[in-house]
Amino acid sequence: AYLGIDLGTSGLRALLVDGKGAPLGAAEGSYEAEHPHSGWSEQDPKDWIAALEGAIAELRAAHPEFAGLRGIGVAGHMHGATLLDAAGEVIRPCILWNDTRSHLEAAALDGRDGFRQISGNIVFPGFTAPKLGWVQQHEPENFARIAKVLLPAAYLNYYLTGACFADMSDSAGTSWLDTGARDWSETLLAAGGMRRDQMPDLLEGCQPGAHLKSELATRWGVSTQVVVAAGAGDNAAAACGIGVMDEGQGFVSLGTSGVLLAARDGYRPAPETALHTFCHAVPGRWYQMGVMLSATDSLNWLARITGTAPRDLTAPLGDELRAPGRVRFLPYLSGERTPHNDAEIRGSFTGLGAENSRDDLTRAVLEGVAFGLRDSQAALEATGLRLDRLIAIGGGTGSRYWLKLIATALNATLELPEGGEFGAALGAARLAILAAGDGTPEEVMTPPAIREEIAPDPGLLPDFDAGYARFRSAYAPIRAVQ
Ligand code: XUL
Repeated sequence: AYLGIDLGTSGLRALLVDGKGAPLGAAEGSYEAEHPHSGWSEQDPKDWIAALEGAIAELRAAHPEFAGLRGIGVAGHMHGATLLDAAGEVIRPCILWNDTRSHLEAAALDGRDGFRQISGNIVFPGFTAPKLGWVQQHEPENFARIAKVLLPAAYLNYYLTGACFADMSDSAGTSWLDTGARDWSETLLAAGGMRRDQMPDLLEGCQPGAHLKSELATRWGVSTQVVVAAGAGDNAAAACGIGVMDEGQGFVSLGTSGVLLAARDGYRPAPETALHTFCHAVPGRWYQMGVMLSATDSLNWLARITGTAPRDLTAPLGDELRAPGRVRFLPYLSGERTPHNDAEIRGSFTGLGAENSRDDLTRAVLEGVAFGLRDSQAALEATGLRLDRLIAIGGGTGSRYWLKLIATALNATLELPEGGEFGAALGAARLAILAAGDGTPEEVMTPPAIREEIAPDPGLLPDFDAGYARFRSAYAPIRAVQ
């Protein structure tokens, strides 16, 4: 058996699969992020370990196959800075991907020669390098103690093996990687006051990193030969989980944040579009994605302030898609990455009339998120890539109205996978199979069976084009009054 671990922002999911990658069982544990100040978001890595150990205990008790474990792969939420001292102790809580305290440091690094050229990306406020700039300035005593900086997934690798190693896909989100060369950049490290010896060893996601510590192997009742893969950032792992590996394949994910991701067979960075260009979790491949920060978060916010559940907001809309109306929503509740790279912009409703109902506001929110995804699609198109089909995943796919709206706003067919596993945990388990030497990417990283396709509504395409044009033009004036 093989274990895939998805270390998420709100919880950890551990998935046990067989040699073909078919699920045997799963267990979860949850934890919170602390927000001690506005814009801060931190987690204590101890909470990850407690969730992991709890999930392992559950899987061991329920599944005798666990005893035959051969490999483990970890996928993690990206960009977080877990700081270790020379004794391997965690110095301070991990600063997470959605923490924006270092937006000034990010802007400063982004303006320096080399960052966009070498890392292939804007230095976004959520990325790792600016977080270290903040620690250097505000917690110099902590900064001076740093022996290693590990991303969340690499920290779990360290817990599992005692060795410090990270994969290329996750490391590409630090702003310290030469993303084309797949190596740490001395130039970028030095510019941030960091050294290569403070970085983990770099491996491809599907390569074996080290063996499970014998102490854990004994406690968990498994062989000391269990291999831990280098793993992946959660988006690359999700791509592995749904077989998005080759040029022409992509997915749209409607989670807390919204992601439009396309696999690329070459390295063609386009930081000016505010796309993310990262290494994939297998050698010789990259992927590009647009990230919007508030997707289902926008709908959840409307549900919260109107005292309803998200489902009770979308159900009254029925299945019949309507053209965008006058009410418009800009989905920037937490700022935006693609296409604006603007940590300070906030959302807005415009065009409200006395006749408008809650349903009109709901429709506007769903449209605003769909247009935010179209911004990412436009960014991808600027690199010469047009995807006519996208696999759709994430909690937001429960609303048929939203699916039809997104298909029409993007003028692309959405493919809905059959129920079951296809997320980052499965991708991580697939990396474990490869790291154990039990398969090739072609055999293992396959797409799921599709249960249904959602096509764009041809009659409404012109209305959505016009609605998108208005959405695009609203950003600058709204920015100016905030
Ligand atoms: C990607 C990103 C998020 C986190 C969340 O750049 O910041 O998708 O990985 O899990």
